[in-house]
Amino acid sequence: MTGLFITLEGPEGAGKSTNREYLAQRLRDHGIDVVLTREPGGTPLAERIRELLLTPADEPMISDTELLLVFAARAQHLAQVIRPALARGAVVLCDRFTDATYAYQGGGRGLSCQRIEQLENFVQGDMRPDLTLIFDLPVEIGLSRAAARGRLDRFEQEGLEFFEAVRSAYLDRAHQVPQRYRVIDAGQPLSAVQQDLGRLLPELLERALG
Ligand code: TMP
Repeated sequence: MTGLFITLEGPEGAGKSTNREYLAQRLRDHGIDVVLTREPGGTPLAERIRELLLTPADEPMISDTELLLVFAARAQHLAQVIRPALARGAVVLCDRFTDATYAYQGGGRGLSCQRIEQLENFVQGDMRPDLTLIFDLPVEIGLSRAAARGRLDRFEQEGLEFFEAVRSAYLDRAHQVPQRYRVIDAGQPLSAVQQDLGRLLPELLERALG
């Protein structure tokens, strides 16, 4: 049995969590076993690595350390949560995965895609998401939504230029492999975003039950 691995991506403030809950509910309505998880994190150990990544600290974290921590958390998460869930046939809805590494560490920090690809192959083998939903949003809107939520984490403290690079990296990837990605306009009212997700549902159900 193999389940379906769906990842949700996008900038801060794009509504990924709300929309992940919505999709999960719609799939569960059809009796599907859905596992909700997130990166960095998803297991107690990986959540500790998340803390290291997100908490601002006096010692600057160099980009290679950031990259290795992201993949360390991912190795743990894959082994403990994602692979077992897929093996029993579940749909895994994961808030961020390796596309975020290409967007933040690649686009944002400027690390080379080849370096990221080496670690991707090392940690994941040939496993890739079956489908990736990118919740796309103009950078200023995302940042003001994130700021309204309260204290900014280590990534949210970055400036406009960083987030413009993150956004372009996501859109470039979607453009390069259109079969795997669906770009959703997250700047619309929530009801319109959920209508878009509703239109995706038949395809998801067919793939999950198929
Ligand atoms: P969030 O999931 O609450 O939005 O926060 C996670 C932060 O971690 C977000 O700013 C993006 C960042 N991140 C990376 O930089 N690289 C990664 O590979 C992942 C999964 C997340």
